[in-house]
Amino acid sequence: MVNIAVIGSASIDLVVSANKRPQAGETVLGKSFTTVPGGKGANQAVAAARLGAKVTMIGRVGDDEYGKQILNNFRANGVLTQFMEPVTDCSSGTAHIILAEGDNSIVVVQGANDYVTPAYVKGASQAIETADIVLVQQEIPEETVEYTAKLCAKLRIPLLLNPAPARVIGDEVIELATYITPNEHEYKLLFKGDDSSTVLKKYPNKLIITEGKNGARFYNGNEEVVVPSFSVPIVDTTGAGDTFNAAFAVAISEGRSIEEALIFANRAASLSITKFGAQGGMPTRAEMKG
Ligand code: RIB
Ligand code: NA
Repeated sequence: MVNIAVIGSASIDLVVSANKRPQAGETVLGKSFTTVPGGKGANQAVAAARLGAKVTMIGRVGDDEYGKQILNNFRANGVLTQFMEPVTDCSSGTAHIILAEGDNSIVVVQGANDYVTPAYVKGASQAIETADIVLVQQEIPEETVEYTAKLCAKLRIPLLLNPAPARVIGDEVIELATYITPNEHEYKLLFKGDDSSTVLKKYPNKLIITEGKNGARFYNGNEEVVVPSFSVPIVDTTGAGDTFNAAFAVAISEGRSIEEALIFANRAASLSITKFGAQGGMPTRAEMKG
């Protein structure tokens, strides 16, 4: 069983669906309102646990009802929560999601996720030292991502940096990460729109650009490899990227090649989008058949 530490956000997603996304100043009638567990860190932790990994989540919740729901959801999915300390007088992170016109738009309010500081991560070193791989995303402070990159490099533990949501990252962090997985939008911000074939060559077996239904691309030291995605009926793409990253981390830690791990990741992500909610549809290992 592979051992994974996830450092990141845990939130509650407040999801409304509507036929139309409102313009600035416009009001539209929605069709439904649902609250489900989310947050990129939590989604990746749950996805990896469902795929059979031993997962420790390093994050924070508020001292509110949502915080309890977040912790209960981790327990229900077998994610270890000893490094999920509540922040007093603080609300849990929330994501305000509109599903309309076949896509989502999201406003994230950080809440307790802002308290995932370098000092807090340092306090969870025990979980990091014993991990086969560490996953980190960008719904926590920038300095925490930097600290994590340095710590993992020092400990020689592979680090998967999922640079979502998009924000500029220093070169040092990019150098230190073992894998970095921007989508096209994040790629443009990180590499200033430079030609992706050139940039992929600069980071062989490290930079993986995800392109949704067009699959994922990386450079294997010899040639650029495109790993196609699977076509499925789309219900909700929220959390597909998280499922992809978690599944990649599980497969690579099990000793699969990057290409094989990307096939596995694409398959897991495709299953996740066939059901509503970031974590709805995330497959179990049995559902992956391999
Ligand atoms: O990656 C999907 C997640 O991003 C959602 O669950 C939501 O919490 C947003 O932060
Ligand atoms: Na889903």
